[in-house]
Amino acid sequence: MTAAAEPTPDRLPDRLSWTREELLDSGAYAAPLIAGGVRCHGGFEADGRYRSPRTTHRAPAIRAWQAGLAREGHELLDIPRAAMPPQYPNVEQAALLLAHGVRDPIVRTLTIISIVEGFGAMIRDVRVPDLAALVVEPIEGTALTHLSGGLFEAHARDESGYKDEGGHKQMWEAARDLALEKPKVPGDVLMRFMGRNAARRRPERPFPQLDETLERMLAMMAQVLVVEVFAEGTFDWGMRLLSDPKVSAAPEAAGTMVGHIRADENPHVEYLRTALSEVRARTLRTVDGRTLAGRAVVDGLLHRILREITHNRPREQREDLREGLVAAMQAAAKPAALLEAFDALDAPWTPPARTGFEPDAS
Ligand SMILES: [Fe+2]
Ligand SMILES: [Fe+2]
Repeated sequence: MTAAAEPTPDRLPDRLSWTREELLDSGAYAAPLIAGGVRCHGGFEADGRYRSPRTTHRAPAIRAWQAGLAREGHELLDIPRAAMPPQYPNVEQAALLLAHGVRDPIVRTLTIISIVEGFGAMIRDVRVPDLAALVVEPIEGTALTHLSGGLFEAHARDESGYKDEGGHKQMWEAARDLALEKPKVPGDVLMRFMGRNAARRRPERPFPQLDETLERMLAMMAQVLVVEVFAEGTFDWGMRLLSDPKVSAAPEAAGTMVGHIRADENPHVEYLRTALSEVRARTLRTVDGRTLAGRAVVDGLLHRILREITHNRPREQREDLREGLVAAMQAAAKPAALLEAFDALDAPWTPPARTGFEPDAS
């Protein structure tokens, strides 16, 4: 039990420097997590509680960096949950399809979620520049100095697994297979998903006066942070749908599996918002020898990303699903009536007028 753990120097709340090994350490578990026959990360305490992987030191470390930020009088940035686009199809629509034997669109949706999780491994390839040289103020004892020292690597392992241990990719596949009894996965899911992503243009550089590696890293972190925060909606959707006994063959096991993944995401959101807040509280050097407020950069990036995702994602999800929806509905007894009932459950959504990170926001 965590409560019984001895207080060690590692657990002091004001310790700000951690080794890579510590940030990647999971400690010992009483029982492993097995998902769909695959040994996954994380595991269970003696009392049966699930404990996320690589959090023995990473969790207290993040809390300590956040406390350090507060001690210096800086705020911890927060992504507004109101900006989170709803999942399409919504839970009621998805349950309706499954209840009528129309499984293909939901199998696709769940498979895409697992693919996206697996792509999280990319975070380990993000290049980290010499931050001490590019940031005016000192950065010792911050999350920023630990990005390449374990934080990105821990994140990558959580998402896609590590060595013979499964991660979120395998856990979502297991949840899907439990709830829908190992459904046949359409062969073109990955291809269609990749096609959609390839069509996206590479964004121009909003801050060309910055060191390019620094700008790319910050843009990637801001993008991943927003995706991680908005994933909360996907988890809620997954838990509600897969734990519905009317449509799920394993309501408890499948719902619980999604719950474990959701718990594991917490350190991702927390270290990213901490490190970005640390940049926001500092000044950055530009390539032409001037400086730029970190706040202008971080807010500028978040504003663009939030505006992009809130405006495009709902439309993209809709287009993706509807592409094969009518064809998939032929599996139902009365396809036309089903489509009508499906559309009647649609809940319109409009993104908020402001992101909260407008360049002029005070
Ligand atoms: Fe994940
Ligand atoms: Fe994550």
